[in-house]
Amino acid sequence: PLAATGDLVAAAAGARTAVAAFNVITLEHVEAVIAGAESAHAPVVLQVSENAVKFRYGRLLPLARAAAAAAERAAVPVALHLDHVQSDDLLRQAPGAGFSSVMYDAARLPYEENLVATRAAADWAHARGIWIEAELGQVGGKNGEPPLDAHAPGARTDPAEARAFVTDSGVDALAVAIGSSHAMTTRTAALDHDRLERLTAALDVPLVLHGSSGVPDDELTAAVAGGIAKVNIGTALNIAMTGAIREYLAGRPEAVDSRSYLSVGRESMARAVTRLIGVVGAPPPR
Ligand code: G3H
Ligand code: ZN
Repeated sequence: PLAATGDLVAAAAGARTAVAAFNVITLEHVEAVIAGAESAHAPVVLQVSENAVKFRYGRLLPLARAAAAAAERAAVPVALHLDHVQSDDLLRQAPGAGFSSVMYDAARLPYEENLVATRAAADWAHARGIWIEAELGQVGGKNGEPPLDAHAPGARTDPAEARAFVTDSGVDALAVAIGSSHAMTTRTAALDHDRLERLTAALDVPLVLHGSSGVPDDELTAAVAGGIAKVNIGTALNIAMTGAIREYLAGRPEAVDSRSYLSVGRESMARAVTRLIGVVGAPPPR
């Protein structure tokens, strides 16, 4: 059934585990994420980024309607989240398109401007019952830019600043920069666990990890134990799907039916989803 992101994150945080949030671009991605979550018997967040909307010729509704229809029929709770929203026009489409939550991304702006824009977005969202996540610090690698030097200190989220930002903006969750970077195709990110501990102590909202594809399993487990309650994953699913399709087509020059390779790619993606939910959604060790 269709669920609300805020409820899934709160339940995960209460159980000291995390809900996995997967980026979807096509209907096959939607189907793969739901199938993978059903195999894991776990709730899941389907997220559509502003970049994915641009890929869909700027239209949110066709993919959103398909995702909502698939979520309603799923055997596990599935929430719809609008990811990395920079445009106010897109933000305003969220409630009508079935999204219970948005990530409003003004992290590229200087602190004061980020705060003013995020507070306005949060006021607007809350008036419509929408759960809102924002980002402070710089999780690099967005929009094809090279990954940030993961150790550049200015890019990391400062705990005291984060506390003021959350209080003054009113957001429901915060994406923190602790060493991960978007669109990594190797799992080599080293997280700043000391900083995560200080952020968790300073904040009373759930924390979100972006760029999780580049984070090794043991680092993900440690991040969840350290207070991350929502884990965003995109690139790892593309690696799974594209790799399987490449392998399938390489040996079959006669293949033409799109279903032949899309089904192989979708199954590979679903397996990646099940595996990753096992890593981040596992109950905490006693
Ligand atoms: O918001 C989406 C995520 O941060 C995904 O990042 O593609 O590097 O896993 P990723
Ligand atoms: Zn992200």
